[in-house]
Amino acid sequence: MSILIKNGEIVTASERYVADILCEGETITRIDKNITAPKSAEVIDAKGKFVFPGFIDPHVHIYLPFMGTFSKDDYITGSEAALVGGTTTLIEMCCPARKDDALEGFELWMKQAVGKSACDFSFHMGVSKFDDATEKQLREIVKRGISSFKIFLAYKGAFGVDDTELYRTLKLAKELGVIVTAHCENETLIAERQKELLAAGKTDPSQHHESRPPAVEAEGVHHLMTFAELTGAATYIVHLSCKEALDQAIAARQRGVRVNVETLIQYLTLDKTYAEKPKFEGAKYVMSPPLRDKRNQEILWNGLRDGLVQTVATDHCPFDFKTQKPMGKNDFTKIPNGIPSLEERINLLYTYGVKTGKIDLHTFVNAASTQVAKTFDLFPRKGTIQPGADADLVVFDPNYRGKISVKTQHMNLDYSAFEGWKIEGRPSVVTVRGQVAVRDGKFVGKHGHGKFLQRKPSHF
Ligand code: URP
Ligand code: ZN
Ligand code: ZN
Repeated sequence: MSILIKNGEIVTASERYVADILCEGETITRIDKNITAPKSAEVIDAKGKFVFPGFIDPHVHIYLPFMGTFSKDDYITGSEAALVGGTTTLIEMCCPARKDDALEGFELWMKQAVGKSACDFSFHMGVSKFDDATEKQLREIVKRGISSFKIFLAYKGAFGVDDTELYRTLKLAKELGVIVTAHCENETLIAERQKELLAAGKTDPSQHHESRPPAVEAEGVHHLMTFAELTGAATYIVHLSCKEALDQAIAARQRGVRVNVETLIQYLTLDKTYAEKPKFEGAKYVMSPPLRDKRNQEILWNGLRDGLVQTVATDHCPFDFKTQKPMGKNDFTKIPNGIPSLEERINLLYTYGVKTGKIDLHTFVNAASTQVAKTFDLFPRKGTIQPGADADLVVFDPNYRGKISVKTQHMNLDYSAFEGWKIEGRPSVVTVRGQVAVRDGKFVGKHGHGKFLQRKPSHF
């Protein structure tokens, strides 16, 4: 099977030009002007449209037992939502609980995706405890194709590690060339502040921010940076939300610490006033770290433009408004944390980033695809458009105009955090390794086509 994408404006992290792209089997085989279509090739007219490399979301939760419930998507709804939104590869956090076995956890998460996912996938291996048995299993998991770990400095008792475990995890990562992704918030400060707020009768969703102010996140980043400095491990701060935390990462980078910074589309577009909405509506906007004061948005956009922030993810983590968010109706600490946005990341980043002039097209492609592929050992198979790369392509219509709505979304959820928001442009055709998965903005892909991507560590 071959596909010829004609006359599109190809945009990568560094180039922009009009040409045809020939995909044969799963791979891009030729890029040139005026390629003649081979017999039986499907020809896709991309005149007037952009062609981007398939986007990669480096931080999602599809299957997650968390805060007494389970996230709502599976790889059927999750991969459809990803693809309609232009994301052709997911990297999910594999999060076995502290009481669980790492290898069994890895196999359990893998089972959720294999045979169901319509897009490609990999995992960051969660390290929720570190002992001799776990170390052995982590070595085995790396041999099976995982090149990144995930640690939580928050959520102690569930996934969080103590400082001895953190140190040993980073030492092992350094030895194996694995990059360590980290949720950075100081757990003790959160627990103490939560107790104080609840004792004062402050129970509504807006108090979530008060329990985890910027200093809590900045301390988490500083903490991780100290351990990274002393072990030499490569680190990746997930979902960084504010100036105070970014300052700590920049200071560490300046003294030679190996650190990458991810922000989320939610922090770039939403602010803490959303979590203050009345009638418990604010619960839709409870995630950790919390949505911040609006002044942080400009700092994060500038950080992306200047290369101080490397990637934009979603931390997609869906809990519904009808039955799950109300678990914290009388106690904000029990609201399941997460603001889903897997389907909307690219359209929002394009509409509210590129179209407003906050970032250029190359920064957009870099932050949502190329840099992710480079950091997580997928480049140049993923993350760019060149002969030999996987034929993961997004034909993007910049003239499309629409609105986000729960009524049209593919995510398995009863609300959209972006209900009614305008979108300028969207993916019209999306391919995954040479198969069309989205046409005219509609999912036409095949569940089970998605492959587990074996990754080899490079961060020695
Ligand atoms: O609120 C969030 N971020 N939910 C998902 C779990 C996590 O911390 O990544
Ligand atoms: Zn997190
Ligand atoms: Zn997460």
